[in-house]
Amino acid sequence: MNEDPTRTPLAMDASREPGVVVLRTTHGKMTNYNYLVVDATSRSAVLVDPSWQPGLIHDAVALAGVRVDGILLTHSHPDHIDLALPMSAHYGCPLWMSSAEIAASGFSVPALVAIDESPWMVGGMLIRPMLTPGHTPGCMCFGIGCNLFTGDVLFAEGCGICPNLQGAHQMYESLQKLRRESTADTRIYPGHSFGRVPGQRFADVLHENIYLQFNNKDDFAAFRLRRGQSREKLFAFQ
Ligand SMILES: [Fe+2]
Repeated sequence: MNEDPTRTPLAMDASREPGVVVLRTTHGKMTNYNYLVVDATSRSAVLVDPSWQPGLIHDAVALAGVRVDGILLTHSHPDHIDLALPMSAHYGCPLWMSSAEIAASGFSVPALVAIDESPWMVGGMLIRPMLTPGHTPGCMCFGIGCNLFTGDVLFAEGCGICPNLQGAHQMYESLQKLRRESTADTRIYPGHSFGRVPGQRFADVLHENIYLQFNNKDDFAAFRLRRGQSREKLFAFQ
Protein backbone atom coordinates (compact mmCIF):
# COMPACT_ATOMS: atom_id res chain seq x y z
CA MET A 1 0.00 0.00 0.00
CA ASN A 2 1.30 3.42 -0.96
CA GLU A 3 1.20 5.60 2.14
CA ASP A 4 3.17 8.50 0.72
CA PRO A 5 0.60 11.32 0.82
CA THR A 6 2.29 13.06 -2.08
CA ARG A 7 1.71 10.11 -4.39
CA THR A 8 -1.90 9.24 -3.72
CA PRO A 9 -4.49 10.21 -6.35
CA LEU A 10 -5.85 13.72 -6.22
CA ALA A 11 -8.30 13.35 -3.38
CA MET A 12 -10.64 15.64 -1.55
CA ASP A 13 -9.45 16.82 1.86
CA ALA A 14 -12.31 19.03 2.92
CA SER A 15 -10.45 20.27 5.99
CA ARG A 16 -7.79 22.05 3.93
CA GLU A 17 -9.23 22.11 0.44
CA PRO A 18 -7.80 25.06 -1.53
CA GLY A 19 -10.14 27.58 -3.07
CA VAL A 20 -10.01 28.15 -6.82
CA VAL A 21 -10.82 31.56 -8.27
CA VAL A 22 -11.53 31.19 -11.99
CA LEU A 23 -10.32 34.14 -14.07
CA ARG A 24 -11.45 34.35 -17.67
CA THR A 25 -9.23 36.69 -19.65
CA THR A 26 -9.42 37.72 -23.27
CA HIS A 27 -7.19 39.20 -25.95
CA GLY A 28 -8.76 39.74 -29.33
CA LYS A 29 -10.28 36.40 -30.28
CA MET A 30 -8.34 34.54 -27.62
CA THR A 31 -9.80 33.48 -24.31
CA ASN A 32 -7.72 31.95 -21.57
CA TYR A 33 -8.49 30.69 -18.11
CA ASN A 34 -6.14 31.85 -15.40
CA TYR A 35 -6.52 30.62 -11.85
CA LEU A 36 -5.86 32.00 -8.40
CA VAL A 37 -5.52 29.09 -5.97
CA VAL A 38 -5.95 30.09 -2.35
CA ASP A 39 -5.12 28.46 0.95
CA ALA A 40 -7.64 30.13 3.24
CA THR A 41 -5.75 29.26 6.41
CA SER A 42 -2.36 30.74 5.55
CA ARG A 43 -3.75 33.35 3.09
CA SER A 44 -1.12 32.13 0.67
CA ALA A 45 -1.95 31.78 -3.01
CA VAL A 46 -0.51 30.81 -6.37
CA LEU A 47 -1.42 31.98 -9.85
CA VAL A 48 -1.68 29.59 -12.79
CA ASP A 49 -0.78 30.84 -16.29
CA PRO A 50 -1.61 34.55 -15.81
CA SER A 51 -2.42 36.27 -19.09
CA TRP A 52 -3.95 39.25 -20.87
CA GLN A 53 -5.74 41.25 -18.18
CA PRO A 54 -3.52 42.27 -15.25
CA GLY A 55 -6.17 44.47 -13.65
CA LEU A 56 -8.60 41.60 -13.43
CA ILE A 57 -5.96 39.44 -11.74
CA HIS A 58 -4.87 42.12 -9.28
CA ASP A 59 -8.49 42.76 -8.35
CA ALA A 60 -9.03 39.07 -7.67
CA VAL A 61 -5.94 38.91 -5.47
CA ALA A 62 -7.07 41.99 -3.53
CA LEU A 63 -10.60 40.69 -3.14
CA ALA A 64 -9.33 37.35 -1.85
CA GLY A 65 -7.00 39.14 0.57
CA VAL A 66 -4.12 36.80 -0.15
CA ARG A 67 -0.40 36.92 -0.74
CA VAL A 68 0.75 35.57 -4.11
CA ASP A 69 3.69 33.33 -3.32
CA GLY A 70 4.36 31.94 -6.75
CA ILE A 71 3.24 31.42 -10.33
CA LEU A 72 2.76 28.02 -11.93
CA LEU A 73 3.36 27.87 -15.67
CA THR A 74 1.94 24.86 -17.50
CA HIS A 75 3.97 25.56 -20.63
CA SER A 76 5.71 28.26 -22.63
CA HIS A 77 3.16 29.21 -25.29
CA PRO A 78 2.59 32.98 -25.45
CA ASP A 79 -0.98 32.91 -24.18
CA HIS A 80 0.14 31.09 -21.02
CA ILE A 81 3.19 33.18 -20.14
CA ASP A 82 1.87 36.55 -21.26
CA LEU A 83 1.88 38.10 -17.78
CA ALA A 84 4.43 35.82 -16.14
CA LEU A 85 7.17 38.42 -15.91
CA PRO A 86 5.12 41.44 -14.77
CA MET A 87 3.15 39.36 -12.25
CA SER A 88 6.35 37.89 -10.84
CA ALA A 89 7.86 41.36 -10.55
CA HIS A 90 4.72 42.85 -8.99
CA TYR A 91 4.30 40.16 -6.34
CA GLY A 92 8.02 39.47 -5.87
CA CYS A 93 7.49 35.76 -6.32
CA PRO A 94 9.05 32.87 -8.25
CA LEU A 95 7.81 31.41 -11.52
CA TRP A 96 7.79 27.63 -11.79
CA MET A 97 8.13 25.78 -15.10
CA SER A 98 9.40 22.31 -15.93
CA SER A 99 13.07 22.03 -16.75
CA ALA A 100 12.09 20.16 -19.91
CA GLU A 101 9.92 23.05 -21.08
CA ILE A 102 12.62 25.60 -20.30
CA ALA A 103 15.17 23.57 -22.24
CA ALA A 104 12.87 23.10 -25.22
CA SER A 105 11.61 26.67 -25.41
CA GLY A 106 14.51 28.76 -24.20
CA PHE A 107 12.10 30.67 -21.95
CA SER A 108 14.15 32.79 -19.59
CA VAL A 109 13.09 35.49 -17.16
CA PRO A 110 14.28 36.55 -13.71
CA ALA A 111 12.84 34.47 -10.85
CA LEU A 112 12.22 31.49 -13.14
CA VAL A 113 12.70 28.22 -11.24
CA ALA A 114 13.12 24.96 -13.14
CA ILE A 115 11.20 22.11 -11.57
CA ASP A 116 10.82 18.36 -11.90
CA GLU A 117 8.02 16.25 -10.48
CA SER A 118 9.03 16.72 -6.85
CA PRO A 119 6.09 18.15 -4.86
CA TRP A 120 6.49 21.15 -2.61
CA MET A 121 4.42 23.20 -0.18
CA VAL A 122 3.10 26.74 -0.66
CA GLY A 123 1.43 27.84 2.55
CA GLY A 124 -0.72 24.86 3.44
CA MET A 125 -1.02 23.67 -0.16
CA LEU A 126 0.86 20.73 -1.57
CA ILE A 127 1.76 21.45 -5.20
CA ARG A 128 2.06 18.25 -7.22
CA PRO A 129 3.64 18.81 -10.64
CA MET A 130 3.13 16.13 -13.28
CA LEU A 131 5.17 16.09 -16.47
CA THR A 132 2.68 15.61 -19.30
CA PRO A 133 4.42 16.21 -22.67
CA GLY A 134 2.74 16.01 -26.04
CA HIS A 135 1.36 19.47 -26.70
CA THR A 136 4.86 20.75 -25.95
CA PRO A 137 7.92 18.77 -24.83
CA GLY A 138 7.71 19.92 -21.22
CA CYS A 139 4.06 20.56 -20.48
CA MET A 140 3.12 20.20 -16.85
CA CYS A 141 -0.16 19.72 -15.04
CA PHE A 142 -0.42 20.70 -11.41
CA GLY A 143 -2.44 18.96 -8.74
CA ILE A 144 -3.44 21.03 -5.73
CA GLY A 145 -5.85 19.33 -3.34
CA CYS A 146 -8.59 17.76 -5.46
CA ASN A 147 -7.96 20.25 -8.28
CA LEU A 148 -5.96 19.54 -11.42
CA PHE A 149 -4.73 22.41 -13.58
CA THR A 150 -4.21 21.00 -17.04
CA GLY A 151 -3.13 23.89 -19.28
CA ASP A 152 -3.36 22.76 -22.91
CA VAL A 153 -3.01 19.05 -22.13
CA LEU A 154 -6.54 18.11 -21.15
CA PHE A 155 -9.63 20.19 -21.86
CA ALA A 156 -13.08 19.15 -20.76
CA GLU A 157 -13.99 18.70 -24.43
CA GLY A 158 -10.75 17.41 -25.92
CA CYS A 159 -6.98 17.72 -25.63
CA GLY A 160 -4.29 20.03 -26.88
CA ILE A 161 -2.95 19.88 -30.40
CA CYS A 162 0.17 17.84 -31.02
CA PRO A 163 2.86 18.89 -33.48
CA ASN A 164 3.74 15.43 -34.81
CA LEU A 165 3.53 11.68 -34.24
CA GLN A 166 5.98 11.71 -31.35
CA GLY A 167 3.97 14.45 -29.68
CA ALA A 168 0.74 12.53 -30.19
CA HIS A 169 2.25 9.40 -28.67
CA GLN A 170 3.47 11.45 -25.73
CA MET A 171 0.03 13.02 -25.36
CA TYR A 172 -1.56 9.57 -25.18
CA GLU A 173 0.79 8.58 -22.36
CA SER A 174 0.21 11.90 -20.60
CA LEU A 175 -3.57 11.45 -20.69
CA GLN A 176 -3.16 7.94 -19.27
CA LYS A 177 -1.05 9.43 -16.52
CA LEU A 178 -3.77 11.95 -15.68
CA ARG A 179 -6.27 9.10 -15.52
CA ARG A 180 -4.08 7.31 -13.00
CA GLU A 181 -3.55 10.43 -10.93
CA SER A 182 -7.21 11.46 -10.81
CA THR A 183 -10.26 10.28 -8.96
CA ALA A 184 -13.88 10.66 -10.03
CA ASP A 185 -14.13 13.87 -8.00
CA THR A 186 -10.92 15.50 -9.22
CA ARG A 187 -11.84 18.90 -10.66
CA ILE A 188 -10.36 19.71 -14.06
CA TYR A 189 -9.24 23.31 -14.63
CA PRO A 190 -7.90 23.72 -18.21
CA GLY A 191 -6.29 26.68 -19.91
CA HIS A 192 -9.22 27.03 -22.30
CA SER A 193 -12.86 26.08 -22.51
CA PHE A 194 -14.79 25.06 -25.60
CA GLY A 195 -18.19 24.96 -23.98
CA ARG A 196 -17.87 23.51 -20.51
CA VAL A 197 -17.17 25.71 -17.53
CA PRO A 198 -13.87 24.99 -15.78
CA GLY A 199 -14.01 22.73 -12.75
CA GLN A 200 -15.71 19.72 -14.31
CA ARG A 201 -15.55 16.45 -12.38
CA PHE A 202 -13.02 14.08 -13.88
CA ALA A 203 -15.66 11.35 -13.96
CA ASP A 204 -17.71 13.47 -16.34
CA VAL A 205 -14.73 14.40 -18.50
CA LEU A 206 -13.71 10.76 -18.66
CA HIS A 207 -17.17 9.81 -19.81
CA GLU A 208 -17.58 12.50 -22.45
CA ASN A 209 -14.11 13.32 -23.81
CA ILE A 210 -13.35 11.27 -26.91
CA TYR A 211 -9.59 11.60 -26.41
CA LEU A 212 -9.85 9.59 -23.19
CA GLN A 213 -11.54 6.66 -24.92
CA PHE A 214 -8.50 5.25 -26.75
CA ASN A 215 -6.61 2.27 -25.39
CA ASN A 216 -3.50 2.41 -27.56
CA LYS A 217 -1.21 5.20 -28.66
CA ASP A 218 -1.35 4.48 -32.39
CA ASP A 219 -5.14 4.74 -32.66
CA PHE A 220 -4.99 7.85 -30.52
CA ALA A 221 -2.28 9.43 -32.70
CA ALA A 222 -4.15 8.60 -35.91
CA PHE A 223 -7.20 10.41 -34.60
CA ARG A 224 -5.34 13.35 -33.04
CA LEU A 225 -3.38 13.90 -36.27
CA ARG A 226 -6.24 13.09 -38.65
CA ARG A 227 -6.43 14.93 -41.94
CA GLY A 228 -8.91 17.68 -42.53
CA GLN A 229 -7.99 19.69 -39.48
CA SER A 230 -7.14 23.30 -40.14
CA ARG A 231 -6.23 26.27 -38.04
CA GLU A 232 -9.89 27.22 -37.99
CA LYS A 233 -10.87 23.70 -36.99
CA LEU A 234 -8.13 23.05 -34.44
CA PHE A 235 -10.63 22.90 -31.65
CA ALA A 236 -13.34 21.06 -33.53
CA PHE A 237 -12.48 18.01 -31.51
CA GLN A 238 -14.66 15.47 -33.28
FE1 LIG B 1 -0.43 25.84 -25.81
